[in-house]
Amino acid sequence: MGIGWDEKTRKFADPGRLAIDAVGSKNSADYGAFKTPTVRDAARTGPYMHDGSLKTLEEVVEHYNKGGNPNPALDKDVKKLNLTDREKKDVVEFMKALTGEAPKLALPTLPAGPDGKTPNPADALAIPGPKTAMGQIFHPVPGR
Ligand code: HEM
Repeated sequence: MGIGWDEKTRKFADPGRLAIDAVGSKNSADYGAFKTPTVRDAARTGPYMHDGSLKTLEEVVEHYNKGGNPNPALDKDVKKLNLTDREKKDVVEFMKALTGEAPKLALPTLPAGPDGKTPNPADALAIPGPKTAMGQIFHPVPGR
């Protein structure tokens, strides 16, 4: 998309995916690449793009309408759209229609265990592992 591309220095402000490629398997095609996010709930998730540089959905549609920011990594299929004002509004309204309320989730009441105590299901959400002054250390594999 070319977000963060500076034509003067011919650099991205943030190298994107390239920065997290494993050392030894850096892929130059990942320079300036960012994960495509969902547009679900987009009306509530601004500002947009990885750097928050586009403040409104209207600005996002303008960005796509002009074919993104020209840069060496721009997808060849991203082109000027020449949308009419009405079409731009329709795209914004479409994204607004994908916005809703998050369903409320109620935690279940669990049956008593062999010790006769009823476990609190919220405990299952707690991350196991030691605590440090900085907070809890995240252990991706519980118990390790
Ligand atoms: C008119 C059509 C499109 C609309 C309305 C649209 C809408 C959006 C929106 C609202 C975001 C920001 C989401 C956020 O920050 O939470 C976004 C980001 C993004 N979209 Fe699209 N999109 C369109 C077409 C495309 C296409 C064709 C591609 C891929 C070829 C694409 C790839 C991406 C990527 C990679 C990002 C993240 C960019 C970054 O963070 O720098 N989008 N899009």
